[in-house]
Amino acid sequence: MINVGDLRRMAQRRLPPVVFDYLDGGADGEITLRENCRAFEDVLFRPRQAVSLAQCDLHTRVLNFDLSFPAILAPVGYSRMMHPGGDVAAARAAGAAGTAYILSTISGHRLEDVRAGSAGPVWYQLYLVGGRPVAELALERARKCGFSALVVTIDTPVAGMRERDPRNGMKELLGGGIFSKMPFLPEVMSHPQWLAGFLMDGGLPKLENIVIPGKGPMELLDVSASLAQSAVSWADFSWIRQLWKGPLVVKGILTAEDARRAVSEGAAAVVVSNHGGRQLDEVYPTIRALPEVVAAVADQTEVLMDGGIRRGTDIVKALCLGARAVLIGRAYAYGLAAGGYHGVKKAIQILWEDVERTMRLLGCPAISDLNESYIEYPREWKAH
Ligand code: GLV
Repeated sequence: MINVGDLRRMAQRRLPPVVFDYLDGGADGEITLRENCRAFEDVLFRPRQAVSLAQCDLHTRVLNFDLSFPAILAPVGYSRMMHPGGDVAAARAAGAAGTAYILSTISGHRLEDVRAGSAGPVWYQLYLVGGRPVAELALERARKCGFSALVVTIDTPVAGMRERDPRNGMKELLGGGIFSKMPFLPEVMSHPQWLAGFLMDGGLPKLENIVIPGKGPMELLDVSASLAQSAVSWADFSWIRQLWKGPLVVKGILTAEDARRAVSEGAAAVVVSNHGGRQLDEVYPTIRALPEVVAAVADQTEVLMDGGIRRGTDIVKALCLGARAVLIGRAYAYGLAAGGYHGVKKAIQILWEDVERTMRLLGCPAISDLNESYIEYPREWKAH
């Protein structure tokens, strides 16, 4: 297992296509999904040679948390479908590596169990599935059990059209009757290892953190139905702010204008993100949007980014362009699908070793020293 691509191949072998493609796929023609990765190739390094470093410091501070490594585990929906360990296993691996974990609203493990499972900071990602009363309950639980930041995702007014999901019968498999499921069942049956784990885990998990008052946790919905209820608008920030007194992170920023708006709504950090190419297709790749957002707001708020990170060099490039840390989603979720906790650990270890090696090859002693002098990138990325 040398790189994240190897974990991806293992995940593909283990998972039925309906689960693998949910994780791996993007919206429409998957242009942005591909561009998120490819655009890193437009950033080239300018190393300082003949520098001998006794140590290489990978620590960073995000929202006043000391992180040993500049990559945070992004919210990933349906993690418990990828592996029974799901959100708890991923949070545990993040904590063991000294970094933070962000729990998705669309999660199959109770947020109390996720908190208890990790030695590191855990943050909660909010969608408004089920409406405001459901969000109020979740935020109260999150606050009580020790979630230390709230991440509000703002790029899901509707679900993106992830074409692989309907082709694989996601909706039918999750909610349909036996006859509508029938055409899609052979693909599931032909992944017996995954199927055994899924059945032993009790079958379809409930959405444990979307609790309808008086009714209990919501049944698992297919992703387009979940995201159709997820829309957050700027007007929601005033009541969210009332309920959540801790740090607030706004995720899904691609322009200077929205970054400034997020700051004016009290964001302690913004995440430059296009949702991993899963929402609006043919939107900027995030590494390209990063310099514009950094120029607009980095003196007032912390800037994070996600999208397309598959190697440590990608992380280092994002930090050179002014991100304090990145979020990794697929990169760890492939590991989760491939091998639960140990797979996530492996994904983090691969990226960690990559970052450290890259820093040494660049001749840079600490990630806090990274800046634009270590790279060359297209100047027009800043022109807004
Ligand atoms: C959930 O947020 C997803 O993108 O699938």
